[in-house]
Amino acid sequence: MTTAADPALLTDIRAAIAAAPDATTAMAEAVALLKGRLPYYSWAGIYLLEGDTLVLGPYLGKPSPHTRIPLGRGICGAAATEKATIIVDDVHADARYLACSIETRSEIVVPILDGARVLGEIDIDSDQHAAFGPDDRTLLEQVAATLAERLR
Ligand code: SME
Repeated sequence: MTTAADPALLTDIRAAIAAAPDATTAMAEAVALLKGRLPYYSWAGIYLLEGDTLVLGPYLGKPSPHTRIPLGRGICGAAATEKATIIVDDVHADARYLACSIETRSEIVVPILDGARVLGEIDIDSDQHAAFGPDDRTLLEQVAATLAERLR
């Protein structure tokens, strides 16, 4: 079984992003590889920052009611505002959390940065408690850096 620490996963994601004909396809390929290879990634998506609003782009998983998130709201808004990765082990214990699915237990949000400018973010939900650790952070921050080159 693949883990977030498997170097082949990052290699494959980087190759798919490089081969994609446009930025939207690059995002969709990255989402598909992440969710497809890591079974505890129950929902995977990318939001793009448009003005002061995060707008949902490619995703896989149940449809989210949160297709547009103002910067001041949610764990997504917090990660974009802080320009830093946020890991939440128990979403129900975090007052910022905007519910996407009742099954979701934990979440990681990783900003896609071009220097100090926020382009968007990668958002992953898991149905498992405390699903995300240092290997997920490292993987997703590297994917975000690779995507930034296609989005800026
Ligand atoms: N949980 C996020 C909202 C997005 S859905 O999970 C897809 C948040 O709190 O910002």
